[in-house]
Amino acid sequence: MVSKYENMKTILITGGAGFIGSHVVRLFVNKYPDYKIVNLDKLTYAGNLANLKDVENKPNYEFVKGDIVDGDFILQLFEERQFDGVIHLAAESHVDRSISNPTEFVYTNVIGTVNLLNAAKHIWKDDFSDKKFYHISTDEVYGSLGEEGIFTEETRYDPHSPYSASKASSDHFVRAYHDTFGLPVIISNCSNNYGSYQFPEKLIPLFINNIRNKKPLPVYGKGENVRDWLWVVDHARAIDVIYHKGKTGDTYNIGGFNEWKNIDLIRTMCRVMDKKLGREEGESEKLITYVKDRAGHDLRYAIDATKIKNELGWEPSVQFEEGISKTIDWYLDNEEWMKNVTSGDYQKYYDKQYLNR
Ligand code: NAD
Ligand code: DAU
Repeated sequence: MVSKYENMKTILITGGAGFIGSHVVRLFVNKYPDYKIVNLDKLTYAGNLANLKDVENKPNYEFVKGDIVDGDFILQLFEERQFDGVIHLAAESHVDRSISNPTEFVYTNVIGTVNLLNAAKHIWKDDFSDKKFYHISTDEVYGSLGEEGIFTEETRYDPHSPYSASKASSDHFVRAYHDTFGLPVIISNCSNNYGSYQFPEKLIPLFINNIRNKKPLPVYGKGENVRDWLWVVDHARAIDVIYHKGKTGDTYNIGGFNEWKNIDLIRTMCRVMDKKLGREEGESEKLITYVKDRAGHDLRYAIDATKIKNELGWEPSVQFEEGISKTIDWYLDNEEWMKNVTSGDYQKYYDKQYLNR
């Protein structure tokens, strides 16, 4: 008997145990019972299967542990599974870690991406009908804005950190495989995400955790850098729309039209948390501590997300005030998750990054 699942479209999602990847896996597994979703993840410090507890037993979901840097393994996996599409999120993603260990970012973000491109090209054997290779990138490839301006899909690449340089390089390889071999690729470049399941090395979950535990809030420089924040579930919705309706060979910018100066965002989080934790107004703000700036710290990112709105009808579904309140509630309600991810090597990372800064 032919199993119901044998004729399903099989989609490979890389990095599905990470922050954004877990939201994308959840959305696809629940929304598309007729797709088989294979989540390939190395489970680095940032990957956590607890992020996917609610979908792990679904019949159309499978987890494979593996490293995209291992080209032979990737080729074998593609040969075995004959994927119809790839949504590639696996990456080293934290700018501060790229400053202390740039090489790791070249392996995973550049070589890992090229391994996936090679495997897709080889397995699809130049018959690219109905196939798709979707590469998830970042707005950081565009560099830094001054007080004015906004990143469009035409903005020239100008990466500054080893992280953004590695992502820019991977974007160039993806486009080169389209232009040279005709591989059906799509790229999107998104702004800063926030929401549940984000590893507490990034600003928002780190500061929520520190506010809760009354620990110093290490603000880099003067806190004047600006980021454009998008709720992670809205990013996952955008990825769904682009995967299904985006034009092959195109790039789409994704953003929240939601710019915040770091220090204003941090003060807002302090105020909201004082209320939620029953603390006196102003209590958490006292934890703000200005520390040495990040090297090469980009001043401002802002995304023009007009193209995806006009062409594909996507726009953010949640206003920031609602999103940040829900996000804070999630971390307060999921203390166990936070405890688990901050046990082990986390304290070593934290001390190295913040002690004597
Ligand atoms: P994350 O660090 O939370 O997750 C990355 C995942 O990739 C982890 O599960 C990790 O185990 C896995 N991984 C790392 N190296 C691997 C390897 N060699 N082989 C297989 N798996 C590996 O990252 P994130 O914040 O969820 O970002 C996901 C993607 O989105 C990245 O490509 C990132 O550049 C991009 N992005 C992130 C943001 C953001 O705000 N976080 C914004 C725009 C774009
Ligand atoms: O713009 C998209 C990018 O957003 C993604 O591609 C990256 O993967 C993701 O990590 C994020 O990069 P940022 O460097 O903008 O995010 P991070 O949370 O590390 O920092 C946000 C801002 O807060 C930045 O200006 C640095 C500042 N910051 C960060 C930390 C961790 C602090 O002031 N103190 C901190 O301790």
